[in-house]
Amino acid sequence: SAAEKGGYDYFMLKEIAEQPKAVADTLLGRIDGAGSLTLDEVRIPANVLREVDKVVIVACGTAFHAGLIAKYAIEHWTRVPCEVELASEFRYRDPILDQQTLVVAISQSGETMDTLMALRHAREQGAKVLAICNTNGSTIPRESDAVLYTHAGPEVAVASTKAFLTQLVACYLVALYLGQVRGTKYADEIRAVVRDLASISGAVERVLETMEPVRELARSLAGKNTVLFLGRHVGYPVALEGALKLKELAYMHAEGFAAGELKHGPIALIEDDLPVVVVVPSPRGRSVLHDKIVSNIQEIRARGARTIVVAEEGDDAVVPYADHLIRVPVTPTLLQPLVATVPLQVFACELATARGNEVDQPRNLAKSVTVE
Ligand code: G6P
Repeated sequence: SAAEKGGYDYFMLKEIAEQPKAVADTLLGRIDGAGSLTLDEVRIPANVLREVDKVVIVACGTAFHAGLIAKYAIEHWTRVPCEVELASEFRYRDPILDQQTLVVAISQSGETMDTLMALRHAREQGAKVLAICNTNGSTIPRESDAVLYTHAGPEVAVASTKAFLTQLVACYLVALYLGQVRGTKYADEIRAVVRDLASISGAVERVLETMEPVRELARSLAGKNTVLFLGRHVGYPVALEGALKLKELAYMHAEGFAAGELKHGPIALIEDDLPVVVVVPSPRGRSVLHDKIVSNIQEIRARGARTIVVAEEGDDAVVPYADHLIRVPVTPTLLQPLVATVPLQVFACELATARGNEVDQPRNLAKSVTVE
């Protein structure tokens, strides 16, 4: 009913709008004023976490994209190798697991069969399993050693939005916590990022306030067949998620690529007026990557692409090559997905509407896939 949708036309719009709160709620009570984390729910003892020599993330769909981003954070802040695997592929290849492996199972619903089977397999091999889940008392957290709940509230639209952002927050918390417990050389950076996380909900809010041009752009592209997405570093999984949203909602051919792979194939797809969304990393910090992606934008534009550039406020280098420019607030490099994903959600939702598609219940898809 209209009341359930809180005045929005679709649950998806409501859930996109709820993201600042969902992010804040997921941080609530987990960070203290001094920049330390208290994750009491993670009932895996500190001495066990200190012995962990490998992290393996398993998930499906949008949750898998959260896992891909988590890998960058976990490896950077903990120096522990991290693999991310589609749950449906995981147990069939006889993965290497033992008591020193920490498996992180990410699932909004807590009922996805492939993810459940993957974690059962991991526990049988002696690995510890930490679930990141949005649904209290669901099967995946019940069968895990510990659970860190995302506090997104119920997500009704089939295409995941606010659950994804809170999965990212939970992944950052796990990465930072592991770093804190293991006392890595990144202690100062960890404390600084914990403080930055506290202001991230406001940054998401600011993105939401500037979405009208994105909606307008989406409407103008309703007749297109293909949209490509490019990103690097944590922007690469953001590109994958942007493409997934467009497939799910707009039923368009959409693909995400690592920008560095452009010359190994994808550039052959570029033709006149093909929309290409490029997620640009911050010019600060890893500026080498920034400069490389700016040349990618030049390369595709020279071949006729219509460039839709998602870039940080104040990043002037991209301006001459952006046919459309979407600004996101300045964030630490690893946290950028929290702001950069939001315009891509809005873009896909508006395109679906413009194409006359059912936004909350896309054809052929289910909110939770409880069969293999
Ligand atoms: C389905 C949904 C996706 C979701 C995926 C994993 O395919 O349509 O939106 O990302 O399942 O779901 P989970 O509940 O495990 O996060």
